[in-house]
Amino acid sequence: MTPHTQPSAPSRKTILSGMQPTGELNIGHVAGALRNWVALQREYDSLFCVVDQHAITVRQEPAKLRKRTLDMAAMFIAAGVDPAQSVVFVQSHVPEHVQLAWVLTCMTGMGECARMTQFKDKSEKHADNINVGLFTYPILMAADILLYNADLVPVGQDQKQHLELARNLAERFNHHYSATFTVPEPFIPKVGGKIMSLQEPTKKMSKSDPNEKASLFLIDTDDQIRNKIKRAVTDSGTDIVYDEEARPGVSNLMSLYHIATGASFADIEREFAGSTGYAPFKEAVAEALVAYIRPIRERFLEVRSDTDGLSAILRQGADHARDRARKTLRKVYKKTGFVEY
Ligand code: TYM
Repeated sequence: MTPHTQPSAPSRKTILSGMQPTGELNIGHVAGALRNWVALQREYDSLFCVVDQHAITVRQEPAKLRKRTLDMAAMFIAAGVDPAQSVVFVQSHVPEHVQLAWVLTCMTGMGECARMTQFKDKSEKHADNINVGLFTYPILMAADILLYNADLVPVGQDQKQHLELARNLAERFNHHYSATFTVPEPFIPKVGGKIMSLQEPTKKMSKSDPNEKASLFLIDTDDQIRNKIKRAVTDSGTDIVYDEEARPGVSNLMSLYHIATGASFADIEREFAGSTGYAPFKEAVAEALVAYIRPIRERFLEVRSDTDGLSAILRQGADHARDRARKTLRKVYKKTGFVEY
């Protein structure tokens, strides 16, 4: 593995995205975000971050958090993020994120955080730990993005509202002081922006779902993948047609088939027209996903076993990110009125 060596190219636009190391990565993370990181990294100046500081907004066991942070970085690489092209780093290695977050926190209304649907959901789920970090979480996310003047943020649909706050904060700072931040655009895929649970297809597939059968993990074995797809909840019809509202189960499987093979919904409907029942379709989806996930899983095991190589990538990534982050923060501090040090 060669750590990032490309100088930052100011002529290229910048993308930044992040993931929380709060559980195993699932196919939703790939569909909504990771595959676009991989697809965009050659065209864009790219930074990808394991957001461990976001993760502690819910209780974490320290040893698990440490392990998952490294697992996640290895998974980025296994899924195709190339550390020679992209900057891969851990959020807590770049303290400028929380430093900028403080300045932005002082420019954010309570109401703006209070209306975030993810805050409402998570405070219901973690009613015994509704901490201030959970509330201000989207401001730290805005800092992640604005520090690097990202033009584009490839994420799944559930991050759209957070992105809106990042845009508002960028505009607010620019207006109040002077042009400083790029106003970022979300990049949300048309298909795969919201992969649903295999067991409850009206609910998002999520790292925190306690039902293991609901998610397809990137470390699942071939047989686990086959079993989960076989047992995936479908709908009462028998034909293969895309209709998110009326047929959420089958539509979700069609999205997964599209992710794994590139086939369009029209192609899929044509391929399975006239088939009796869901079994042949489910079998095809399972085999396509086995072929898609297996190389990622195998590469993950390889990358993860080279701890020194992985640490070197993360160290270089953080050094690179810090150089850039420091410059932005210096400007922000100056404009804010902090005396130079
Ligand atoms: P997180 O860690 O929950 O999810 C990581 C990314 O995966 C997407 N995603 C999905 N996409 C489709 N279907 C699903 N079922 C699914 N589940 C998750 C998410 O939309 C996300 O893109 N707040 C962010 C992390 C973050 C961040 C950032 C993202 C922190 N700072 C800066 C972008 C830029 C989060 O909790 O993602």
